[in-house]
Amino acid sequence: MDRITLESPLDMHLHLRDGDTLTLVAPLSAADFAGAVVMPNLVPPIDALDALDAYRARIAVACDTARFSPWLTLFFRAYSHDELAAARRQIIGVKLYPEGVTTNSAGGVRDLRGIDATLEHLEALGIPLLVHGETHGFVMDREREFLPVYRRLARQFPRLTIVMEHITTREAVELLGEYDNLHATITLHHLLITLDDVAGGLLQPHLFCKPIAKRPEDREALLHAALTGHPRVMFGSDSAPHPRSAKEAAGCAAGVFSAPVALPALAELFADRDVLPMLQRFVSDNARAIYRVTPPLRRITLERVPWRVPDHYGAVVPFGAGTTLAWQVTARA
Ligand code: NCD
Ligand code: ZN
Repeated sequence: MDRITLESPLDMHLHLRDGDTLTLVAPLSAADFAGAVVMPNLVPPIDALDALDAYRARIAVACDTARFSPWLTLFFRAYSHDELAAARRQIIGVKLYPEGVTTNSAGGVRDLRGIDATLEHLEALGIPLLVHGETHGFVMDREREFLPVYRRLARQFPRLTIVMEHITTREAVELLGEYDNLHATITLHHLLITLDDVAGGLLQPHLFCKPIAKRPEDREALLHAALTGHPRVMFGSDSAPHPRSAKEAAGCAAGVFSAPVALPALAELFADRDVLPMLQRFVSDNARAIYRVTPPLRRITLERVPWRVPDHYGAVVPFGAGTTLAWQVTARA
């Protein structure tokens, strides 16, 4: 197969930022995707409805939201039942960051044992909980150390839809099998790279992200889940633009900017493994079933035609900059 048309591809974990970066990156996602879950880790974080509404309006200026649905999230804090009831129709979920684990998470949760009241409201109102699941432990162990938290939440709140964001380990994939209310997003870069690609040769700041890429066996487990269309696994790019000056620096910011290369690189990956038809599940169907969303109808056609990834988009360097991918988007309807 040298060609595929995807129906309404979705990116279930995306950083659109704000200001000039929003203006730069939103049209790139809107070109290829019919919808995206937009992360709330702005400065200050989006943790109130007025800020959420204002952000939605800025996104609508930056791109065509009739063709691209931005599904917004609130930054987790202690919310009352009334606050969440008022927000329910305007959000797709609430995103929990442990304090300080990643970019712009200083206002995150310090004590994960003190959040049960808010989780009860989320469960009662049917609002999904999205989680950045890392501890403050040794960098390679942070996700694995967090898994007991997922177990407790899944058990204690059995009707709460929990999404383990950007999973990177074999153990996290295996945990999906233990609880029906656990789901996961997987990024493009974690399907393609390991820690070796980040730091095994010359240091590659554009591959540095949280969670850090892990071992080959972890990548294989992620690949297996994605390529076989695991029904509780969704594509979420975690595309996280930072200006080149913040990446090529002593003290490199965490985040990989992958939105404009995501679909061509995924098509190449699935085609190379002879499972191209499974891509529709991974980039759209599973997410629609899990979140019960109906995106705008879009048809994005990809073909096996070489495409050189741009060196930069404005001040931001994309994943795979300057390399040639075997596939490209050839029609956007
Ligand atoms: C993200 C960012 O830059 O906002 N960075 C990252 O390395 N993934 C935050 C996040 O999702 O952890
Ligand atoms: Zn993210």
